[in-house]
Amino acid sequence: MKSPKCILVVGGAGYIGSHMVWLLGQKGVDVVTLDNLSSGHRDAVLHGQFVLGDIADRLILDKVFGEHKFDAVMHFASFIQVGESVLDPAKYYQNNVVNTLNLLNAMRAHGVDKFIFSSTAAIFGEPEYVPIGEAHPQSPINPYGWSKRMVEQVLADYDRAYNLKSVCLRYFNAAGAHPDGLLGERHDPETHLIPLVLQAASGQRPHITVFGRDYDTPDGTCIRDYIHILDLAEAHWLALQHLQSGGETRAYNLGNGNGYSVNEVIETARRITGRAIPVQEGQRREGDPARLVADAGKIQQELGWQPIYADLNTIVKHVWHWEALNS
Ligand code: UFG
Repeated sequence: MKSPKCILVVGGAGYIGSHMVWLLGQKGVDVVTLDNLSSGHRDAVLHGQFVLGDIADRLILDKVFGEHKFDAVMHFASFIQVGESVLDPAKYYQNNVVNTLNLLNAMRAHGVDKFIFSSTAAIFGEPEYVPIGEAHPQSPINPYGWSKRMVEQVLADYDRAYNLKSVCLRYFNAAGAHPDGLLGERHDPETHLIPLVLQAASGQRPHITVFGRDYDTPDGTCIRDYIHILDLAEAHWLALQHLQSGGETRAYNLGNGNGYSVNEVIETARRITGRAIPVQEGQRREGDPARLVADAGKIQQELGWQPIYADLNTIVKHVWHWEALNS
């Protein structure tokens, strides 16, 4: 394999992107981060060069591609809130689809032909069965899921027509933080369960609201497959090696294959923090499937991916460490 020398990480100042930039630094790869800081943090970029800019801006893309010889592009810059995507689909289609096309077309113009894309379990919609493998029907139920589904289609067509090779990684629930407390999740507003539960544990929030207890699950709360952010970053590294070795376009589901209910997450957080975590009962959140659990057998077999931090205790411990350092 020709080892990568320089990677463009778009959205490298965000939660997932910043862990990826750190990992690429550990692997000895040069990185240019391009981020508009709409939700990312400049101080989360711990390696390489930082460029403030938006992928909507073709001039900045031409400048960045003109100044560096990239082996591949990793794209983490997207809007991710399902509820918001229903209320404001234009925002999601513009950024997640149109701006991604702008990025892909700049890659073509500059002869960069390898792309790693952050896709999502939301492309499957309401699951017909779990665990969800790649063969599961794709039927998104919100504009967020559609925006990712559309880019997956674009990527399949760009491979056929322009030989642009890509790997789509469909994340289930990205969670956790850097084990040493270097990086973590800092969304504003925060909508994800684990940071919210731990902020309730530390007293930054009065309680955690449980969105529905009448689901068809053993304890009535929703079940999710939480995957540690560094396991996720490692999957990108393997995807990059696959493309560097001349590998074909692929799409992989990425989770641990273990489902935990909202209740189990709260109980785990109580155990690990030793704090009381007040709970408020809430209504179901629209668009939440009862269970989302990945079958990640394909990426395990084809790329040799193995999670290191698959256990929920470890994921929660790392987030608690991060919250303690940052509250
Ligand atoms: N939840 C609560 N209370 C909260 C927040 C969340 O009970 O205050 C519940 C949700 O209802 C859900 C679970 O906790 O059952 C996990 O919710 P998150 O918001 O943490 O994550 P989601 O499963 O909604 O979202 C993830 C990704 C999205 C992706 C989606 C696919 O973060 O980007 O999976 O369905 F679109």
